[in-house]
Amino acid sequence: MAFLVGETGGQERLDDLGGEGHTGHPAAETEHVDVVVFDALVSGVGVRSLRGAHAADLVGGDGGTGARAAYDDPSIDPPITHGPADGRRVVGVVDGIIRMGAEVGDRDAVFGKRLGERFLQSETGMIGAYSYPHTPSFPKAAASVVTSPGGPYNLAMDQIVVTGGTRLDGVVSVLGAKNAVLKQMVAMLLAPGTHRLTNVPGILDVELMGRVLNHIGAATVFDGHALTVEVPDELRPEAPLELVRQMRASIIVLGPLLARTRTARVAFPGGDDLGARPIDMHLAGLEALGAEIELEHGTVVARAPNGLTGAEIDLDFPSVGATENILLAAVLARGTTVLNNPAREPEIQDLAAQLNSMGASIGGAGTSQMVVNGVGQLHPVDHGVVPDRLEAGTYAAAAAITRGRVRVEKCDPAHLRMELKKLAEAGCEVERGDDWFEVRGPDRPRPVDFATLPFPGFATDMQPQMVALLAIASGTSVVTENLYEARFRYLGELMRMGADVTTEWQHAVIRGTDRLSGCPVLAPDIRAGAALVLAGLRADGYTIVSDVQHIDRGYEGFVDRLAALGAVIERRGA
Ligand code: EPU
Repeated sequence: MAFLVGETGGQERLDDLGGEGHTGHPAAETEHVDVVVFDALVSGVGVRSLRGAHAADLVGGDGGTGARAAYDDPSIDPPITHGPADGRRVVGVVDGIIRMGAEVGDRDAVFGKRLGERFLQSETGMIGAYSYPHTPSFPKAAASVVTSPGGPYNLAMDQIVVTGGTRLDGVVSVLGAKNAVLKQMVAMLLAPGTHRLTNVPGILDVELMGRVLNHIGAATVFDGHALTVEVPDELRPEAPLELVRQMRASIIVLGPLLARTRTARVAFPGGDDLGARPIDMHLAGLEALGAEIELEHGTVVARAPNGLTGAEIDLDFPSVGATENILLAAVLARGTTVLNNPAREPEIQDLAAQLNSMGASIGGAGTSQMVVNGVGQLHPVDHGVVPDRLEAGTYAAAAAITRGRVRVEKCDPAHLRMELKKLAEAGCEVERGDDWFEVRGPDRPRPVDFATLPFPGFATDMQPQMVALLAIASGTSVVTENLYEARFRYLGELMRMGADVTTEWQHAVIRGTDRLSGCPVLAPDIRAGAALVLAGLRADGYTIVSDVQHIDRGYEGFVDRLAALGAVIERRGA
């Protein structure tokens, strides 16, 4: 689908862009355009420009008077199908694009976000027109924005403003791991009754997974950091596109739904800001257990009319999600499943612990072979979620980059061995106990090379935070990203702050510079968003991080926690 997105604030600008009778951009003359998104149509001028547009559909995004006039104008043909959002300009556009069926994806999302930034920067001015030839995608961020719990649209407009230069000093406690709790919520579907999770972080992703469970038929009640889930006897075995778009990890419901109901329909999750993210190993694993799987119109349809049967499965790569999907199916399968080369992440170990206390029989969690003896049924339990090593690691990096001293509590330093080792190589002083560690940052870090790998290797989800630190190192570091093809996308933003980086395939060469300089940047994903905030803590002046809903997906109270450690930081609504 090709999009043309334009801002038409007045006649002069329209003339610049192609004049009367054009859609506002020369690209529209030469390329097929499926959707035209026009914003801020002023007093009928923009309306006239839309007449004769060779587009299949027109989407108006603004709540201004010109837009309203356009919606009512019978001469606009085809008619504008999406009305004003709530007067919030950027989101109106984004919302419109999503409603038109844009795919979540990778490369073009960056441009989408840049568009958002320019809208933000030119609330009253002209910004020109933007062409999206054959765009397969639009920001994942936007999908979460549309339904975020803080109100339908306002998160898109929130920004984090950081004034650099303070050393962080103090104590911070971490909550349960995002990447454990999301799967543990799904694991509850395996047993009817009342389940409870504690140490649950108050993050957007938990809320979104709650909606997936609600759709399947479970009732969810959040009370502080506890989550109670009532799982009914009868489940609705599906996760539709609008939920999977917002919560990619929804694919994990395939395994348990197959195990419980012998059938499941889950929208195929597309790629996202980190890359294509295929699910071939999930599907092959479930097929090995006896499922028949077809892709029908973008939906994975899985059936196991005769139930699931244990099998020996070899994973090409220790995928976290594939391991989980297979485990969540195998626990109720007939017979024994042997899973070779499973993921060994602490979150997998914690999922196995929860399942075992529900009555499952899983051995070998955390090793390179897991053995699951299927059982007839499981029962609900209370379970405390393992601490979030990535949240803990992010505060460690925050201490390091600010020359600060931060003690991180309620965590497990054994889950961050590699990351703490690399921080020590960079010149940090690291002390640790059973459930805490303390990091003291050097004046200027030393360069460090590292490569991301599955656990216990260096976590890809700590790569951007570490790179932010290495950006101010006293020499050159080489970082290799082995998990995601698009994980370096944020480097462009870091370079706007003065980082000196070049990338070649999955390698980044970071030549340390002695200062970063604050500026507006966009958070492209959870961890890169956090990393840009950390860079802002060290930069001269102030840094404005937009698209902060990404950070909300994975960090509870990020701004407040950093402020409590002494950071000069605030969150601003639009
Ligand atoms: N892969 C395949 N085929 C598959 C499955 C995975 O090719 O069937 C590839 C992926 O494309 C990727 C690599 O294998 O390149 C790793 O994927 P994995 O399945 O291990 O990751 P995931 O389950 O999709 C989880 C976390 C990620 C974290 C990775 C790696 C959750 C909800 N997400 O994703 O967390 O980066 O494991 O540790 O658990 C984050 O927290 O910010 C985040 C992205």
